[in-house]
Amino acid sequence: MKVLVVGGGGREHAIIKKLKENETIEKIYAIPGNGGIAQDAECIAIPANEIEKITEKAVELGIDFAVVAPDDPLVLGAVDSLNAKGIKTFGPNKAAAIIEGSKVFSKNLMKKYNIPTAKYEVFDDMEKALAYLETAPIPTVIKADGLALGKGVIIAMTRDEAKDAVRSMMEDKIFGASGNNIVIEEFLEGPEVSVLSFTDGKTVVPMISSMDHKRALDNDEGLNTGGMGTIAPNPYYTDEIAKECMEKIFIPTIEAMNSEGRSFSGCLYFGLMLTKNGPKVIEYNCRFGDPETQVVLPLLESDLLDIMMHIWDKTLDKAEVEFSKNSAACVVMASAGYPQKYESGFEIKMPYDKNIYVAGAKLDGGVLKTAGGRVLGVTEVADTLENAIEKAYETVKQVSFDNAYYRKDIGKKALAAKVN
Ligand code: AMP
Ligand code: GLY
Repeated sequence: MKVLVVGGGGREHAIIKKLKENETIEKIYAIPGNGGIAQDAECIAIPANEIEKITEKAVELGIDFAVVAPDDPLVLGAVDSLNAKGIKTFGPNKAAAIIEGSKVFSKNLMKKYNIPTAKYEVFDDMEKALAYLETAPIPTVIKADGLALGKGVIIAMTRDEAKDAVRSMMEDKIFGASGNNIVIEEFLEGPEVSVLSFTDGKTVVPMISSMDHKRALDNDEGLNTGGMGTIAPNPYYTDEIAKECMEKIFIPTIEAMNSEGRSFSGCLYFGLMLTKNGPKVIEYNCRFGDPETQVVLPLLESDLLDIMMHIWDKTLDKAEVEFSKNSAACVVMASAGYPQKYESGFEIKMPYDKNIYVAGAKLDGGVLKTAGGRVLGVTEVADTLENAIEKAYETVKQVSFDNAYYRKDIGKKALAAKVN
């Protein structure tokens, strides 16, 4: 069995390391992969969003199964393109990936099917959006419709900030065409939980819950990033809340997508906020989250390829999906300055026998060097969350590169929740 993983970040590294536990896989290719993934898979330098080239290459290599991990190729239809050539895949087709590709689509879906989410209005006209903001409740949240590298959300604490956000999206086009349509929504408060789920469009099996740390600095200060660390399970996500989410959010979403003729297959990510009025959907992602995957997959005890094959066959109800009772923590090590300006090209020294998932790194004459904002994620698993966090920070000390920066408080909020 030859497997292709499309993508080149820490998430893809975690998927590849997990897939490698399956002995029927003879070879794993990554497109484009990265300098660290090259330890575990053969990397082919094609950008992840060039879906025609990827499909051609997959055919040439005789790929049996392809996992499309990032949002861009999914939204562009990579799965459809690979399937048209007879290649089995993991991931939603283009019609279903719109659940992440368009916030207007996902908000309207939730409204139509009574799935709890923040109240909202959609605008394609800037003057109307600005007029609405004259009386809208503040704080408010402004979201660009399309994909914007996870940055298309602005939380405005004042009316002026809200108006500036609208102008920057709709007039200055800071997120390009993604800002042609915008969503203005109610500001929600409460702990955030990420729940990744496996689904074949019939059955939905939530994975272990997790918590991302999106802000760049300790105590959730600084700019939003792609994610500075994660822990799993998320202590705020009790069995009772999980049951409520299953009934009010997960199953209704799968059924809503079926009713729309957009049956979703793959990993559906629910970004939830546990408000005092119950859990609400903040966002859907049509894929594994990053860096949530770096704590969720190390806790998966079942075979990942087997689950993915069951999803392809639409027999997920027959698959074994078991998670360990342990906890995991992932500390992302970034280049100082991320998510803004940073330098790269520094040699990375790290132990290779650990759960270290490499994201922004390249091989330069056989030497692993930094090549991105988020460089790598260090994951440790232990019997308790506290021990997992402590172990992860111990392992961080064994990794070095110039200008390394990481948050010192990953999991702190989760530990506080456990005490309360
Ligand atoms: P997203 O890209 O949709 O995940 O949004 C990024 C972050 O913005 C989320 O993780 C939340 O912390 C925050 N956010 C998004 N929507 C809301 C909302 N309606 N109320 C409060 N915070 C929000
Ligand atoms: N960690 C959030 C995401 O993958 O978009």
